[in-house]
Amino acid sequence: MIRRAVAVGVGHYLPERVVENAEFEASLDTTDAWIRSRSGIERRHFAGEGETTSAMAVAAARRALEAAGLTADDLDAVVVATSTPDLTFPSVATMVQDGLGMTGGFAFDVQAVCAGFVYALANANALILSGQATRVVVIGAETFSRIMDWTDRSTCVLFGDGAGALILEAREGSGTPADRGILATDLNSDGRYRDLLYVDGGVSTSGSAGVLRMQGREVFRHAVEKLAETAETALEKAGLTAEDVTWIVPHQANLRIITRTAQKMGVGMDRVVVTVQDHGNTSAASIPLALSVAVQDGRIKPGDLLVAEAIGGGLAWGSVVLRW
Ligand code: UT7
Repeated sequence: MIRRAVAVGVGHYLPERVVENAEFEASLDTTDAWIRSRSGIERRHFAGEGETTSAMAVAAARRALEAAGLTADDLDAVVVATSTPDLTFPSVATMVQDGLGMTGGFAFDVQAVCAGFVYALANANALILSGQATRVVVIGAETFSRIMDWTDRSTCVLFGDGAGALILEAREGSGTPADRGILATDLNSDGRYRDLLYVDGGVSTSGSAGVLRMQGREVFRHAVEKLAETAETALEKAGLTAEDVTWIVPHQANLRIITRTAQKMGVGMDRVVVTVQDHGNTSAASIPLALSVAVQDGRIKPGDLLVAEAIGGGLAWGSVVLRW
């Protein structure tokens, strides 16, 4: 018998305001048709005035707790993946801990941009496997609308806001790929590519938050090359292959990247969860949002084999193999 980190509940929160592609046509030299055909995005949610990353994270965590039939007292750790925290410090995770009414345990943020949720899952898994935690809420929450250059059509039409949360619980497993829970993780980064996708401000440089800058075509090229590779590596570590996968739950940045990655892995699009049309790119929130939507609508069922993969600023990328 070995310890496994098993998913016991998932939930999400999307801000009320929905912005359709056509809304950008008034202020930018762009069209709904261009955005749809180049990215697959049709609409996205933007946080309301005063609506924070931590508030969305708390809302998503509450829904995940409810789905799991648990309360905040049952948790001993909060891990939040975000690149758009409320404040420089403390962490969003400690704000979530307080927002949920937790007085024990520990909380911290993980910053790996769009790969953040995969990194956070790998960290939470390690905490559970090493016996340092038994129930962890892992959250991806972002307000990318606050770091957009609204005059840059090549970036501002692509991103959205939201939060998703997943609760992991320590359970006994047999040590085979038939176990429920996280079966393998694979993390990578290469800081030589930091200029491809970054935010041009920060505490020790400009003293301001800055706005997002991206060389889209270059990031696209790396994504297509690296995502299938990391997913296949994680599957191999788990003793599985792409044929065993019930659902790919990819980072939702661009439908063309999602499609090409699935093609490379030999997985049909009927086995890929796609939510990019409704959410845009919500960075670290995109995988838990997609997961929550697909569990809620009945696509993902107990026993399904999932592989989540993501790439973003850093570059940082990775994947997680999880049996639901
Ligand atoms: O989540 C983190 C990871 N991020 C990603 O995975 C994003 C990766 N990159 C992408 O998704 C794509 O590269 C984009 C969607 C950002 C861009 O698509 P593309 O097919 O790579 O377009 P491009 O950058 O090569 O631009 C093609 C043309 C350019 O015009 P010229 O130079 O060919 O005349 C752009 O100026 O499209 C133009 N363009 C636009 N046109 C209308 C760029 N943005 C827009 C726009 N509306 N919003």
